[in-house]
Amino acid sequence: MLSRRLFLEQLAGAGATAGLRPSLAAQAEQGLRAIAARRGIVYGCAAATYEFKYADFSAALAREAGMLSAEYEMKRAALEPTRGAYDFSGGDSLLAFARQHGMAFRGHTLVWHHSNPPWLADALQSPKAEVLLTDYIAAIAGHYKGRIASWDVVNEVIQPSDGRSDGLRDTMWLKRFGPEYIDTAFHAARQADPRAMLVYNDWGCELGAPENDRFRAVTLEFLSNALARGIPIQALGMQGHLSAFGTQVDQKKLRAFLDAVREMGLKIIVTEHDVDDSGGSSDIAIRDRAVADACRRFLDVMLDNPATIAVLTWGLSDRFLDPPGWRDKLSGRYPRMLPLDRDCKRKPMWAAMAKAFA
Ligand code: XIL
Repeated sequence: MLSRRLFLEQLAGAGATAGLRPSLAAQAEQGLRAIAARRGIVYGCAAATYEFKYADFSAALAREAGMLSAEYEMKRAALEPTRGAYDFSGGDSLLAFARQHGMAFRGHTLVWHHSNPPWLADALQSPKAEVLLTDYIAAIAGHYKGRIASWDVVNEVIQPSDGRSDGLRDTMWLKRFGPEYIDTAFHAARQADPRAMLVYNDWGCELGAPENDRFRAVTLEFLSNALARGIPIQALGMQGHLSAFGTQVDQKKLRAFLDAVREMGLKIIVTEHDVDDSGGSSDIAIRDRAVADACRRFLDVMLDNPATIAVLTWGLSDRFLDPPGWRDKLSGRYPRMLPLDRDCKRKPMWAAMAKAFA
């Protein structure tokens, strides 16, 4: 266990306590979980069971996170590799870690157009294929009933560039069942777990470009119509994937969007926050600063809205991030998108999150 003095020196060395009020420096030993909790916000991150074999990472995860979600082990390819034969081992291990450390657990995700087992596409063409949706949701949400704080019931269902008037993504689910598959999924999830908060999760409302304006408009229309149809959506999940050197958040546009979501009576969860640091300087200090600044600009607006109840990053440490391309691998340029570096040391992004939470 690090001595408190050495610990804080390490923090200071990482620039992570610069500007933190003394009380925050003292709190830093407890991690983002404690700092966020003081504002009534849950901080957590996605994780995968293979990460638990690293003791230093597991200790950092226990210290920093107050909620876990499954990076991939609760997607259908992992849960139902063979039709009707469920494998809950990965999800159950993540849930066990969460419960062991007093963390909340969120489910990700019941219906998506990626990470499906190879047998599903053909099976969907059979008659009475709706059971592939309803029976699956009943089995999965039933298995985790009462232990899931919130479920991403459907994931990434909007894609205006697919050209539909309703802006929905033209997935195998939409092609087979029409837009009603979304109603079916949410009602099945509600029936299987009466207590879990039901979330519509997507990426596209965060940034300030014209296509994001369109995405926000379609999302508001989708949510308003869904609620009018009596679909039990309780929260909007915003994935929060940002870019340090690409299109930035427009705080004014984002703030107005969040106000409109809150006016619908919905909660808001940042479900997969990270900041892509590719495409800019190769200087690590510049990349880390740009990542921290993008993170802070985003979270300041997100956390100003009382509807925002939780913030999760899409992982905790850069250690498990793959270089985007072979050139990066050759040059040893590893992504630095998360609050902790490859050695689980806190980065300027960690400090930016701590300040945003505080
Ligand atoms: C990705 C995971 O990071 C990968 O490990 C997995 O193989 C595929 O999914 N939006 C989402 C996440 O909702 O589930 C995706 O995560 C990233 C994009």
